[in-house]
Amino acid sequence: MRTIRTIPELREHLAEHRRAGRSVGLVPTMGFFHQGHLALMAAARENTDVVVVSLFVNPTQFGPAEDLDAYPRDEARDASLAEGVGVDVLFAPDRAEVYPAGFATSVTVAGITEVLCGDPRRRGAAHFSGVTQVVAKLFNIVGPDVAFFGQKDAQQALVVRRMAADLNFPVRIEVLPTIREADGLAMSSRNSYLSADERQQATALSRGLDAAEAAFVGGERSAEALVRVASEVLDNADIDIEYVELRAVEDLSELRTVDVPGLLAMAARVGRTRLIDNRILETHLPEVGRADTAGTQQNGTRP
Ligand code: PAJ
Repeated sequence: MRTIRTIPELREHLAEHRRAGRSVGLVPTMGFFHQGHLALMAAARENTDVVVVSLFVNPTQFGPAEDLDAYPRDEARDASLAEGVGVDVLFAPDRAEVYPAGFATSVTVAGITEVLCGDPRRRGAAHFSGVTQVVAKLFNIVGPDVAFFGQKDAQQALVVRRMAADLNFPVRIEVLPTIREADGLAMSSRNSYLSADERQQATALSRGLDAAEAAFVGGERSAEALVRVASEVLDNADIDIEYVELRAVEDLSELRTVDVPGLLAMAARVGRTRLIDNRILETHLPEVGRADTAGTQQNGTRP
């Protein structure tokens, strides 16, 4: 694996691969790798010829009161983990390489960035403008055939998809399932901030999602009721809820009844650490004409 820090060097390196007809996969990250990051890299390894992982703690997506300076960093450890899953290039530019003096361009997706985490009462849409700004640059710098994102950040993945389609980036966006600890907690670089007690409390996020999913599978379709089920689990764990909302997966529009695929999304503070998690709720219609499902307990369990 090569670590590359400048844009010209990366371009030159990738140009050789392109001339040889190889496909390029990109996994954008802010480092401090866990199994969630490594799963994206493994998928890139499996699906593309040359795997590029970017490691850049992007300052423009952090709010003034957020944890930019405290964000965990360990490049040597990250490099060895990435190498272990077969990454070819770790692109680790410094801030001036990405945002040189005079940089003045913004990239903003409207609408879907203004709800959930982008709600003006919370992080605000500026957070997602920072994300699309840096991801647009990475797409232009790397020119990937496929880029890999995690469902953990469901809204981010949706925003990136929208941007790529709207701006005609010739890239396929793959979104991979959330990787979790054994007790359900979604892996996150920010989990490293949690004390032992907070780490226990934090399991309430996935337990809340489990409870709401169970209610959904049991036939509950009211968004309000499902949100209540999840919120109660967080309340019982004494966690500070930022939001728990159920919106349409497709465009994050409000849902009263989950009659189209829904995204149950939550953000909460455990101590001073902000954690997010989500679950897609969708009805699986029984497959018409399949007689062989009898006895598999599928029949009748999903209304
Ligand atoms: P970061 O938080 O480092 O996450 C990098 C990628 O890993 C994102 O696509 C994220 O959704 C995915 N990921 C994080 N935790 C995951 C988990 N438990 N399971 C599966 N995937 C997971 O997201 C960012 O960085 C930045 O916003 C970035 C896109 C790099 C732009 O700066």
